Parts: sequence; structure tokens; C-alpha cells
Amino acid sequence: MSALRVVDSNTLSVSGPQKKPEWENGWSENLASFIAGGDVESLIPKYVKRNRPMRLEGQYVQPEDAEFENSFLSVLHTYVFQKYFTPATEIFEFGSGTGINLIELANLFPEKTLHGLDWVESSKGILEKLSPKFGGRIRGHIFDMFSPESTVPIPPGSAVFTAGALEQLGTQFEAFLNFMIQCRPAICVHLEPVYELYDDNLLFDYVATRFSLARNWLRGFLPRLHDLQSQDAIEILKVKRTLGSFFHDGYSILAWRPKGADLSK
Ligand SMILES: C[S@@+](CC[C@H](N)C(=O)[O-])C[C@H]1O[C@@H](n2cnc3c(N)ncnc32)[C@H](O)[C@@H]1O
Repeated sequence: MSALRVVDSNTLSVSGPQKKPEWENGWSENLASFIAGGDVESLIPKYVKRNRPMRLEGQYVQPEDAEFENSFLSVLHTYVFQKYFTPATEIFEFGSGTGINLIELANLFPEKTLHGLDWVESSKGILEKLSPKFGGRIRGHIFDMFSPESTVPIPPGSAVFTAGALEQLGTQFEAFLNFMIQCRPAICVHLEPVYELYDDNLLFDYVATRFSLARNWLRGFLPRLHDLQSQDAIEILKVKRTLGSFFHDGYSILAWRPKGADLSK
């Protein structure tokens, strides 16, 4: 009930091109704390809440550990990164924010070059400060998923990753999806809220669909992947819901690859 009240309050921030300054300001605060203290804790996004009920298999659960959501995320990341990214030559995270996922990747794969691409300067600024701590292997680039341009070469055998970033595109994902297909990475993996995985005949899922609509989050992406698979343009490798945070399931796994992608590396 309290989740629905928030949805109905009209106070939720709505994603879209107009939200860019909000991200710029948000990550500027993280950049300032990181410069002041230099600790990785300051790069944990403030929207990952502590001590909140979470969504698990159709029910709300209250974790005993206040840090449970962060711990769950680090286990999920380790599983997904090892399973899908071990053979990758380089890894490109789009909408990489504070670079917290790139740090996990850098620790897991000490030999790989990692790229963080985001549309705001403050995100690139954080990655530039982080990079020397990882021998220059983390590189920051400006990139707008609403208007993708091939400014950064994606070599054969690379992996593409997004987490809570496609979500921001609402229904305007087609240009970025085409971009990914044209770049022919070996694999694309997304940890995102997937609207079509909810069953809105169930109140529990209906709350999450209302939340997603109110925030203008990703819709139509999974059906589009299915279209492309039926045209033999891509292969879908995994579609799976996992745990959710209080309002929605933000960490569903989608893995796919463009057909003809170079898997030899
Ligand atoms: C919810 S945050 C996720 C950050 C990071 N992936 C993580 O897991 O911590 C969403 C990120 O997407 C970025 N973003 C939103 N719209 C974008 C766009 N059109 N192009 C590139 N980045 C975008 C935001 O600046 C922000 O860094």
C-alpha cells in the first residue's frame, strides 16, 4: 500500500532527455565526495537504499542485514560478469554513472580494459579520477544513448553491459538497440527492470508496473528482442527475474548477442 501511495503522489522523477541536468548534479556530488575522501563508498549511488523491504518471488521480504541489497548486487554482478564476460576482450558499460560496476569488473578481470560511457561530464570526471588506481584500465567517455554515435571503437570480441541505464530510455531505445547490433559485440548483458516480465493480474506486480509507468522506465525492449530473434538478427541467451528492491524488480537479467558476432576471442 505504501508503495502505491508513493506512485500516486506525483512526486516521482520522470526519466527522459530532460533529466540530464539532474544526473549531472547528482554525480557531481559523488565526484566532490570522492575527491574529498577518495573512498569507493562515496561512489555507491544514493538511490540504493539501506534497510528497506525487498521483492522476492511474489512477496515483500525484510532483510535482516541493512546492507543486504548492496551485498546481493555484488553477488549478482560476480555471477553475471564471470558467466558472460570472461572471454571478452574489452567491456563497455553504457550509462555507467559513478563507475561502481567498473570497479567490480576491474577487480575481477585485472587484464581487461573497461570503458564507462555516460551522457554527463561528472560521470566521466569520476572515471578519470578512478582510472590511475587501476593502471589506466578504466576509461570514461561521453555518450548519449538517445543519439548514439560511434565515437568510441568497439573491437571484435567486446562485451556490452548496462545496469539501470536502459531503464532510463523509456520507449526510446530503438536507436541504441540498432547501435548495439551494428557494433556486433560478442555479448550484450543488461540488469534492468523489464516491464513485460510483470504479470499485472497480480497486485504485487501491478504495483511495479504502475511505478515503471510513473517513472517512464523501459518498456517494449524485450518484445523487440523477440522480434529481432525471429528475424534471425540476434540470439537471446537469458531472460530472468531476480530479487527486486521495494518498488520494482530492477535487476532482471537479459543476455543476447547479435548474430554473426565474433565469439572467437
Ligand atoms: C540509475 S543510473 C545507473 C548507473 C550505473 N549503471 C549503476 O549501476 O550504478 C543511470 C545512469 O544512466 C545515465 N543515463 C541516463 N540516460 C542516458 C543517456 N541517454 N545516455 C547515456 N547515459 C544515460 C545516467 O547519467 C546515469 O549515470
